[in-house]
Amino acid sequence: MEIKDSLLKEFAEVYGDAEGVRVFFAPGRVNLIGEHTDYNGGHVFPCALTIGTYAAVRKRQDRKLGFYSMNFSRLGVIESSLDDLKPDKDAGWTNYPKGMMWALEERGYGLDCGLDILVKGNIPHGSGLSSSASVEIVTGYFLKELFGFEISGQELALIGQYSENNFNGVNCGIMDQFAIAMGKKGHAIFLDTADLSYEYAPINLQRAKLVISCSNKKRGLEDSKYNERREECETALSEIQAGMGINTLGDLDEQLFEQIKMAIKDEDRRKRAKHAVYENRRTIKAVQALKNNDIALFGELMNESHISLRDDYEVTGEELDTLVEEAWKINGVIGSRMTGAGFGGCTVSLVEDGAVEEFIEKVGVAYQERIGYAADFYVVEIGSGPCELD
Ligand code: GLA
Repeated sequence: MEIKDSLLKEFAEVYGDAEGVRVFFAPGRVNLIGEHTDYNGGHVFPCALTIGTYAAVRKRQDRKLGFYSMNFSRLGVIESSLDDLKPDKDAGWTNYPKGMMWALEERGYGLDCGLDILVKGNIPHGSGLSSSASVEIVTGYFLKELFGFEISGQELALIGQYSENNFNGVNCGIMDQFAIAMGKKGHAIFLDTADLSYEYAPINLQRAKLVISCSNKKRGLEDSKYNERREECETALSEIQAGMGINTLGDLDEQLFEQIKMAIKDEDRRKRAKHAVYENRRTIKAVQALKNNDIALFGELMNESHISLRDDYEVTGEELDTLVEEAWKINGVIGSRMTGAGFGGCTVSLVEDGAVEEFIEKVGVAYQERIGYAADFYVVEIGSGPCELD
């Protein structure tokens, strides 16, 4: 059965019938390089995936909201209302669509009736491939379409980030929501987070694949650690700003950073800022390498990115390090690094076609042996931004 039909069938079972229901999709994302740079005024280079979140939706006559996830079907329909758009620890995944509704209303896009919503995601749970931003953007997109709001993809991304920051309490940057709202098939997005200027770069992986390795590490503290890293960078920036006029860490290059780094009083903080500066420069170099068709250099920069995230930013951990270090041992791996926030989640590897099977086999066995449970592997494709299914 096609995905749309299966959603409509389930919708009818859950809500009585599927008359007038519309079905939407928003992707997940993977970041190729440029990690923890987006809240430091640096560059990122993510792409949307063909996996993501589907939503079947219909307006109601009243102000009630029905939320049903096929991924958490045992929870049944979770009921709420437009008059109750407040974050609630017990509301689970519904905090993401609710946050988006709240953020739209905050921006003046009023919702004049409630909705029945059914979602189904095929992004591995907790993988760091932005399932939450995917839910936010699919929600923003279907609300825009159903209520006729004129909102650009870029504004949708900003509203998604606003909801994540202010409704869900994660002080994330703009990368995830932007990559998802602005995704383009076969392309990665070279985004300057200082001013949101961007460029699409074609990813023509002749004879190579993008392989995601999912650590299956249960994340717990990652959100608070994420906010902690962000604060460390902000403090480092203000220490530098006491002596020179820069706006963000992204304004520095490597040489300048080395000259002024002692303005940062604490060694850990200095390491965090170093990562932010060097990673931004690496991202610019990596995109240039891609333009020059120098895929080997792109891969080397991916590897350097991982080392910096491991040693200076300290957001990898044994699971992600094992996946990456085992990947590096395999002939035909062009580059491999953790992707996303870290502390668990996934790695992304560029692997030559002929080595993909061996990669999955060998990295899988070594991971199981060292970590004690299995990793999952996905060969992924670069997909487009949000859409309505015909
Ligand atoms: C998470 C955040 C992003 C970005 C990455 C790290 O995915 O949501 O904004 O900061 O971590 O690069």
